[in-house]
Amino acid sequence: MGKKISLIDLYEMKKSGQKLSWLTAYDYPTAQFAEAAGLEMLLVGDSLGMCVYGYSSTIPVTMDQCIWHCEAVRRGAPNTFVIGDMPLGSYQTSDQDAVFNAIRFLKEAGADAIKLEGGVRIADRIKAIDEAGVVVVGHIGLTPQSSGQLGGHKAQGRTAEAAELVVADALAVQAAGAKLLLVEAVPPEVTRYIWETLDIPVLSIGAGPHCDGQLLIVSDLIGQFQAFTPKFVKKYCNVAEVITEAMKAYVADVKAAAFPDEDKYCYHMIEGEEAKFLEMMKK
Ligand code: KIV
Repeated sequence: MGKKISLIDLYEMKKSGQKLSWLTAYDYPTAQFAEAAGLEMLLVGDSLGMCVYGYSSTIPVTMDQCIWHCEAVRRGAPNTFVIGDMPLGSYQTSDQDAVFNAIRFLKEAGADAIKLEGGVRIADRIKAIDEAGVVVVGHIGLTPQSSGQLGGHKAQGRTAEAAELVVADALAVQAAGAKLLLVEAVPPEVTRYIWETLDIPVLSIGAGPHCDGQLLIVSDLIGQFQAFTPKFVKKYCNVAEVITEAMKAYVADVKAAAFPDEDKYCYHMIEGEEAKFLEMMKK
Protein backbone atom coordinates (compact mmCIF):
# COMPACT_ATOMS: atom_id res chain seq x y z
CA MET A 1 0.00 0.00 0.00
CA GLY A 2 1.61 3.26 -1.15
CA LYS A 3 1.22 6.73 0.30
CA LYS A 4 -1.95 8.64 -0.53
CA ILE A 5 -1.37 11.77 -2.65
CA SER A 6 -2.56 14.95 -0.95
CA LEU A 7 -3.02 18.56 -2.04
CA ILE A 8 0.29 19.35 -0.31
CA ASP A 9 2.06 16.78 -2.51
CA LEU A 10 0.59 18.44 -5.62
CA TYR A 11 1.80 21.86 -4.44
CA GLU A 12 5.26 20.46 -3.71
CA MET A 13 5.41 18.99 -7.20
CA LYS A 14 4.54 22.38 -8.66
CA LYS A 15 7.24 24.03 -6.53
CA SER A 16 9.88 21.58 -7.69
CA GLY A 17 8.85 21.91 -11.35
CA GLN A 18 7.41 18.39 -11.69
CA LYS A 19 4.44 18.12 -14.05
CA LEU A 20 1.15 16.69 -12.79
CA SER A 21 -0.53 13.90 -14.78
CA TRP A 22 -4.31 13.80 -14.68
CA LEU A 23 -6.92 11.69 -16.45
CA THR A 24 -10.63 11.15 -16.16
CA ALA A 25 -11.86 7.78 -14.88
CA TYR A 26 -15.40 6.52 -14.43
CA ASP A 27 -15.03 2.97 -13.12
CA TYR A 28 -13.11 0.69 -10.79
CA PRO A 29 -10.87 -1.15 -13.29
CA THR A 30 -9.80 2.04 -15.09
CA ALA A 31 -8.99 3.64 -11.73
CA GLN A 32 -6.83 0.61 -10.86
CA PHE A 33 -4.94 0.90 -14.16
CA ALA A 34 -4.46 4.65 -13.63
CA GLU A 35 -3.05 4.23 -10.13
CA ALA A 36 -0.73 1.45 -11.35
CA ALA A 37 0.39 3.73 -14.20
CA GLY A 38 1.40 6.49 -11.76
CA LEU A 39 -1.23 9.17 -12.42
CA GLU A 40 -1.32 11.69 -9.56
CA MET A 41 -4.89 12.85 -10.17
CA LEU A 42 -8.19 11.42 -11.45
CA LEU A 43 -11.31 13.36 -12.42
CA VAL A 44 -14.66 11.65 -12.31
CA GLY A 45 -15.90 14.03 -14.96
CA ASP A 46 -19.48 14.63 -15.98
CA SER A 47 -18.07 13.62 -19.38
CA LEU A 48 -19.18 10.19 -18.11
CA GLY A 49 -22.56 11.16 -19.62
CA MET A 50 -21.06 10.99 -23.10
CA CYS A 51 -18.28 8.45 -22.54
CA VAL A 52 -20.24 5.89 -20.48
CA TYR A 53 -23.98 6.58 -20.80
CA GLY A 54 -24.04 7.56 -24.50
CA TYR A 55 -25.77 10.95 -24.02
CA SER A 56 -25.02 13.56 -26.69
CA SER A 57 -23.85 16.08 -24.03
CA THR A 58 -23.07 16.30 -20.31
CA ILE A 59 -26.33 18.11 -19.57
CA PRO A 60 -28.47 15.12 -18.41
CA VAL A 61 -25.86 13.89 -15.89
CA THR A 62 -27.12 13.83 -12.29
CA MET A 63 -25.41 14.12 -8.91
CA ASP A 64 -26.33 10.51 -8.12
CA GLN A 65 -24.61 9.22 -11.26
CA CYS A 66 -21.48 11.23 -10.41
CA ILE A 67 -21.47 9.87 -6.84
CA TRP A 68 -21.81 6.21 -7.98
CA HIS A 69 -18.96 6.50 -10.44
CA CYS A 70 -16.78 8.49 -8.04
CA GLU A 71 -17.24 5.81 -5.36
CA ALA A 72 -16.08 3.12 -7.80
CA VAL A 73 -13.05 5.18 -8.83
CA ARG A 74 -12.12 5.81 -5.20
CA ARG A 75 -12.14 2.05 -4.53
CA GLY A 76 -9.95 1.41 -7.57
CA ALA A 77 -7.46 4.20 -6.82
CA PRO A 78 -7.22 4.58 -3.04
CA ASN A 79 -3.95 6.56 -3.18
CA THR A 80 -4.68 8.89 -6.08
CA PHE A 81 -6.05 12.45 -5.67
CA VAL A 82 -9.66 11.96 -6.81
CA ILE A 83 -11.79 14.92 -7.93
CA GLY A 84 -15.57 14.76 -8.30
CA ASP A 85 -17.08 16.90 -11.05
CA MET A 86 -20.18 18.91 -10.12
CA PRO A 87 -22.80 18.28 -12.85
CA LEU A 88 -25.10 20.96 -14.29
CA GLY A 89 -27.75 21.93 -11.75
CA SER A 90 -25.76 20.85 -8.70
CA TYR A 91 -24.25 24.28 -7.93
CA GLN A 92 -25.85 26.97 -10.10
CA THR A 93 -29.00 27.36 -8.00
CA SER A 94 -27.57 28.62 -4.68
CA ASP A 95 -24.53 28.61 -2.39
CA GLN A 96 -26.44 26.21 -0.16
CA ASP A 97 -27.03 23.68 -2.95
CA ALA A 98 -23.42 24.02 -4.05
CA VAL A 99 -22.05 23.33 -0.56
CA PHE A 100 -24.52 20.47 0.02
CA ASN A 101 -23.59 18.71 -3.23
CA ALA A 102 -19.85 19.33 -2.84
CA ILE A 103 -19.95 17.71 0.59
CA ARG A 104 -21.83 14.71 -0.87
CA PHE A 105 -18.73 13.95 -2.98
CA LEU A 106 -16.58 13.81 0.16
CA LYS A 107 -19.00 11.92 2.43
CA GLU A 108 -20.55 9.45 -0.03
CA ALA A 109 -17.79 8.94 -2.59
CA GLY A 110 -14.55 9.64 -0.69
CA ALA A 111 -13.44 12.35 -3.14
CA ASP A 112 -10.49 14.61 -2.24
CA ALA A 113 -11.86 17.64 -4.07
CA ILE A 114 -14.59 18.86 -6.37
CA LYS A 115 -14.45 20.69 -9.70
CA LEU A 116 -16.95 23.21 -11.04
CA GLU A 117 -17.14 25.20 -14.23
CA GLY A 118 -17.01 28.99 -14.53
CA GLY A 119 -14.97 32.02 -13.49
CA VAL A 120 -16.23 35.44 -12.43
CA ARG A 121 -19.90 34.39 -12.54
CA ILE A 122 -19.34 31.40 -10.22
CA ALA A 123 -16.83 32.97 -7.80
CA ASP A 124 -19.37 33.18 -4.95
CA ARG A 125 -20.04 29.44 -5.19
CA ILE A 126 -16.33 28.66 -5.09
CA LYS A 127 -15.98 30.85 -2.01
CA ALA A 128 -18.90 29.16 -0.25
CA ILE A 129 -17.59 25.64 -0.96
CA ASP A 130 -14.04 26.60 0.04
CA GLU A 131 -15.32 28.12 3.30
CA ALA A 132 -17.12 24.83 4.00
CA GLY A 133 -13.69 23.18 3.96
CA VAL A 134 -13.88 21.45 0.58
CA VAL A 135 -10.97 21.67 -1.88
CA VAL A 136 -12.21 23.35 -5.07
CA VAL A 137 -10.74 22.94 -8.55
CA GLY A 138 -11.80 25.75 -10.90
CA HIS A 139 -12.49 25.17 -14.61
CA ILE A 140 -12.39 28.03 -17.13
CA GLY A 141 -12.05 28.59 -20.88
CA LEU A 142 -14.29 26.14 -22.73
CA THR A 143 -16.83 25.06 -20.13
CA PRO A 144 -18.97 22.28 -21.72
CA GLN A 145 -21.96 22.78 -19.39
CA SER A 146 -22.43 26.30 -20.83
CA SER A 147 -21.41 25.44 -24.40
CA GLY A 148 -24.84 26.68 -25.56
CA GLN A 149 -23.91 30.21 -24.46
CA LEU A 150 -20.39 29.84 -25.86
CA GLY A 151 -21.76 28.92 -29.30
CA GLY A 152 -20.72 25.25 -29.11
CA HIS A 153 -17.55 23.38 -28.11
CA LYS A 154 -15.22 26.12 -29.33
CA ALA A 155 -11.75 27.25 -28.25
CA GLN A 156 -11.92 30.36 -26.04
CA GLY A 157 -9.67 33.42 -25.64
CA ARG A 158 -8.43 33.59 -29.24
CA THR A 159 -8.66 37.41 -29.54
CA ALA A 160 -7.02 39.90 -27.17
CA GLU A 161 -10.44 40.92 -25.77
CA ALA A 162 -11.54 37.30 -25.27
CA ALA A 163 -8.18 36.44 -23.67
CA GLU A 164 -8.66 39.31 -21.18
CA LEU A 165 -11.98 37.73 -20.11
CA VAL A 166 -10.32 34.31 -19.61
CA VAL A 167 -7.62 35.93 -17.46
CA ALA A 168 -10.30 37.73 -15.41
CA ASP A 169 -11.95 34.33 -14.82
CA ALA A 170 -8.62 32.81 -13.72
CA LEU A 171 -8.01 35.62 -11.24
CA ALA A 172 -11.57 35.40 -9.89
CA VAL A 173 -11.29 31.63 -9.36
CA GLN A 174 -8.02 31.96 -7.44
CA ALA A 175 -9.31 34.92 -5.38
CA ALA A 176 -12.44 32.95 -4.44
CA GLY A 177 -10.32 30.21 -2.88
CA ALA A 178 -9.91 27.50 -5.54
CA LYS A 179 -6.78 25.44 -4.88
CA LEU A 180 -6.19 24.26 -8.47
CA LEU A 181 -7.26 25.62 -11.86
CA LEU A 182 -8.10 23.74 -15.05
CA VAL A 183 -7.95 25.72 -18.30
CA GLU A 184 -9.74 24.14 -21.28
CA ALA A 185 -9.29 24.85 -25.01
CA VAL A 186 -7.49 28.18 -24.66
CA PRO A 187 -4.45 29.26 -26.75
CA PRO A 188 -1.10 28.35 -25.17
CA GLU A 189 -0.11 32.04 -25.14
CA VAL A 190 -3.04 32.80 -22.81
CA THR A 191 -2.46 29.74 -20.61
CA ARG A 192 1.19 30.75 -20.20
CA TYR A 193 0.13 34.22 -19.04
CA ILE A 194 -2.30 32.70 -16.51
CA TRP A 195 0.35 30.23 -15.30
CA GLU A 196 2.89 33.01 -14.80
CA THR A 197 0.32 35.20 -13.02
CA LEU A 198 -1.40 32.77 -10.64
CA ASP A 199 0.06 31.14 -7.52
CA ILE A 200 -2.11 28.01 -7.56
CA PRO A 201 -1.27 25.06 -9.86
CA VAL A 202 -2.68 25.55 -13.36
CA LEU A 203 -3.51 22.51 -15.49
CA SER A 204 -4.48 22.25 -19.14
CA ILE A 205 -6.85 20.25 -21.26
CA GLY A 206 -6.27 21.41 -24.80
CA ALA A 207 -4.66 24.61 -23.50
CA GLY A 208 -1.01 23.89 -24.31
CA PRO A 209 2.12 22.90 -22.45
CA HIS A 210 2.88 26.05 -20.42
CA CYS A 211 1.39 25.07 -17.06
CA ASP A 212 1.78 22.61 -14.18
CA GLY A 213 0.18 19.54 -15.75
CA GLN A 214 -2.16 17.96 -18.25
CA LEU A 215 -5.60 16.39 -18.22
CA LEU A 216 -7.09 14.15 -20.91
CA ILE A 217 -10.35 12.22 -21.11
CA VAL A 218 -9.39 8.57 -20.67
CA SER A 219 -11.91 7.43 -23.30
CA ASP A 220 -10.11 9.64 -25.87
CA LEU A 221 -6.62 8.58 -24.81
CA ILE A 222 -7.38 4.85 -25.15
CA GLY A 223 -9.47 5.22 -28.33
CA GLN A 224 -12.74 4.14 -26.76
CA PHE A 225 -14.95 7.21 -27.40
CA GLN A 226 -16.14 7.04 -31.01
CA ALA A 227 -18.37 10.10 -31.62
CA PHE A 228 -15.57 12.65 -32.23
CA THR A 229 -11.96 13.38 -31.25
CA PRO A 230 -10.98 16.96 -30.35
CA LYS A 231 -7.83 18.40 -31.99
CA PHE A 232 -5.92 18.42 -28.69
CA VAL A 233 -6.29 14.67 -28.04
CA LYS A 234 -3.37 12.31 -28.46
CA LYS A 235 -4.65 8.73 -28.83
CA TYR A 236 -2.22 6.34 -27.14
CA CYS A 237 -3.99 3.15 -28.22
CA ASN A 238 -7.16 1.97 -29.93
CA VAL A 239 -9.13 -0.24 -27.56
CA ALA A 240 -12.25 0.06 -29.73
CA GLU A 241 -10.38 -1.86 -32.42
CA VAL A 242 -8.87 -4.38 -29.99
CA ILE A 243 -12.25 -5.09 -28.33
CA THR A 244 -14.20 -5.27 -31.61
CA GLU A 245 -11.63 -7.68 -33.10
CA ALA A 246 -11.81 -9.88 -29.96
CA MET A 247 -15.62 -9.91 -30.13
CA LYS A 248 -15.58 -10.76 -33.86
CA ALA A 249 -13.23 -13.68 -33.15
CA TYR A 250 -15.60 -14.89 -30.42
CA VAL A 251 -18.62 -14.68 -32.74
CA ALA A 252 -16.72 -16.67 -35.40
CA ASP A 253 -15.70 -19.33 -32.83
CA VAL A 254 -19.28 -19.71 -31.56
CA LYS A 255 -20.72 -19.98 -35.08
CA ALA A 256 -18.11 -22.59 -35.99
CA ALA A 257 -18.65 -24.46 -32.68
CA ALA A 258 -14.92 -23.93 -32.05
CA PHE A 259 -15.64 -22.53 -28.58
CA PRO A 260 -15.74 -23.94 -25.96
CA ASP A 261 -13.11 -26.62 -26.40
CA GLU A 262 -14.42 -29.38 -24.13
CA ASP A 263 -11.02 -30.31 -22.66
CA LYS A 264 -9.85 -26.74 -22.08
CA TYR A 265 -12.91 -24.71 -21.02
CA CYS A 266 -15.29 -27.19 -19.26
CA TYR A 267 -15.78 -28.61 -15.76
CA HIS A 268 -15.97 -32.42 -16.32
CA MET A 269 -17.78 -34.73 -13.94
CA ILE A 270 -15.73 -36.38 -11.24
CA GLU A 271 -14.27 -39.76 -12.33
CA GLY A 272 -16.96 -42.50 -12.28
CA GLU A 273 -19.85 -40.05 -11.73
CA GLU A 274 -21.03 -39.98 -15.34
CA ALA A 275 -21.81 -43.75 -15.42
CA LYS A 276 -23.60 -43.41 -12.07
CA PHE A 277 -25.58 -40.41 -13.32
CA LEU A 278 -26.68 -42.14 -16.55
CA GLU A 279 -27.76 -45.18 -14.51
CA MET A 280 -29.82 -42.93 -12.21
CA MET A 281 -31.48 -41.27 -15.20
CA LYS A 282 -32.78 -44.65 -16.44
CA LYS A 283 -34.99 -45.01 -13.34
O1 KIV B 1 -16.21 16.19 -17.39
C1 KIV B 1 -15.03 16.28 -17.74
O2 KIV B 1 -14.36 15.29 -18.04
C2 KIV B 1 -14.45 17.59 -17.79
C3 KIV B 1 -13.33 17.79 -18.76
C4 KIV B 1 -13.88 18.10 -20.10
C5 KIV B 1 -12.41 18.84 -18.31
O3 KIV B 1 -14.91 18.48 -17.15
